[in-house]
Amino acid sequence: MESLVILISGQGSNMRALLDAKLPVKRITVISNNPAAAGLEIARSRNITTHVIDHRLYSDRTTFDAALTEIIEACQPSLVALAGFMRILGDNFVNRYQKRLINIHPSLLPAFSGLNTHARALQEGVRIHGCTVHFVTPQLDHGPIIIQAAVPVLTGDTPETLGARVLQQEHLIYPQAVRWFLEGRITVAHGRVLVQSATHIKTKQY
Ligand code: GAR
Repeated sequence: MESLVILISGQGSNMRALLDAKLPVKRITVISNNPAAAGLEIARSRNITTHVIDHRLYSDRTTFDAALTEIIEACQPSLVALAGFMRILGDNFVNRYQKRLINIHPSLLPAFSGLNTHARALQEGVRIHGCTVHFVTPQLDHGPIIIQAAVPVLTGDTPETLGARVLQQEHLIYPQAVRWFLEGRITVAHGRVLVQSATHIKTKQY
């Protein structure tokens, strides 16, 4: 059985979706850079081991990444899942965990990498928006795409209403992607992901 590390910074709803998914792992560890992250309480209430590595106590990214690495190494994870982890990780960290480091991003990449994705989608007038689970590479929000889900942009949407619609889909696709990974169904060749005998989950219909 495998070990999973989940990195969070905030409310942790994607982390909760992963915990709810009853994934085939023997151990899950949750780490946050933010001592006030609400997701930490959710994890603790489920007897999940948590760690806080407060980025404000480190003078630079290298020392923060090194502290993070030390905790993660002790977990010997087969997968590290970023779930609303809002710190940029250095190249050394990303390279160390390459092929076992994934992220969920609230847009249909490669559109709207970076922050404020829902507001930017509304500003651009796109009619379809969504979310993406992808492998992490040194180039921000650009790694091989594992799964995406799309939602319509509706008349009168605000960043909040659109974001809530996207988040519902995140909670479906992230556990699916992690399960595929843990089941050894994912291969990456030439920057493209192949999922063996993927049975697609049903996303919400509009
Ligand atoms: C999610 O929408 C996730 O996609 C996004 O932060 C939110 C975290 O919510 N991640 C990023 O923007 C990463 N660049 P959660 O804490 O409830 O899972």
